[in-house]
Amino acid sequence: MAEGKQVIVKVKRQASPKDAARWEEFALPWRPSMNVIICLRDIAEHPVTREGKQTNPVSYDSNCLEEVCGSCAMVINGKARMACSALVDQLEQPIRIEPLSKFPVIRDLTVDRQFMFDSLKRVKAWIPIDGTYNLGEGPRVSPEVQEKAYPLSRCITCGNCLEVCPQVNENNNFMGAAIFSQVRLFNMHPTGAMHAKERIEAVMGDGGIEDCANAQNCVKACPKEIPLTESLAEINRQAWKQALFGWLVG
Ligand code: FES
Repeated sequence: MAEGKQVIVKVKRQASPKDAARWEEFALPWRPSMNVIICLRDIAEHPVTREGKQTNPVSYDSNCLEEVCGSCAMVINGKARMACSALVDQLEQPIRIEPLSKFPVIRDLTVDRQFMFDSLKRVKAWIPIDGTYNLGEGPRVSPEVQEKAYPLSRCITCGNCLEVCPQVNENNNFMGAAIFSQVRLFNMHPTGAMHAKERIEAVMGDGGIEDCANAQNCVKACPKEIPLTESLAEINRQAWKQALFGWLVG
């Protein structure tokens, strides 16, 4: 350990949804390969501010610690990103850590991302199967479709694409790029395609694809490099096709 080297971290704290937000600053001992989650753990072990005031451990979500579960999304130095892959040595100090702003704060950095999960339910982002009997082998998926589907399947529902989207705000119910990308994924699966029409109907309603203003911030903020703008264009195309010719196929 480099003798005496410190990491200065500022955390936006909020005791409950009703309380006002405030900042607390911490000085932590530097270690090699530190990431933001390690900083938050160090604070939990020794919850004392830089001024020496005793405080509470910071509330936050994390699980996999390898950018897979999507739970640790937060705003770090003004950028929506995953705390587990945000390396301290690559961040300007003091490191400012805030909760995502597009979701209700529960406490400190923990937010309620239920809106996203409700949107996934709304667009039926799954392939319905009856698990009560053996359905046999599923349909073959061509390598071409697999190649297109795989990047979309990497979505971790972190919410970063909603955080950076100007259309996600208190004045509308725009579902956000991740949701439309999942519609594209399930519509391209041979079994999922049986419910494509219902999914497209869901994205033609309130908060649907029509509300996308093409800011294209989403694709830059996605930690999994999902081609979100391609998904938005494709779902827009499917929605137009259904609006113009949907009645033909009943
Ligand atoms: S802890 Fe799972 S993505 Fe960061």
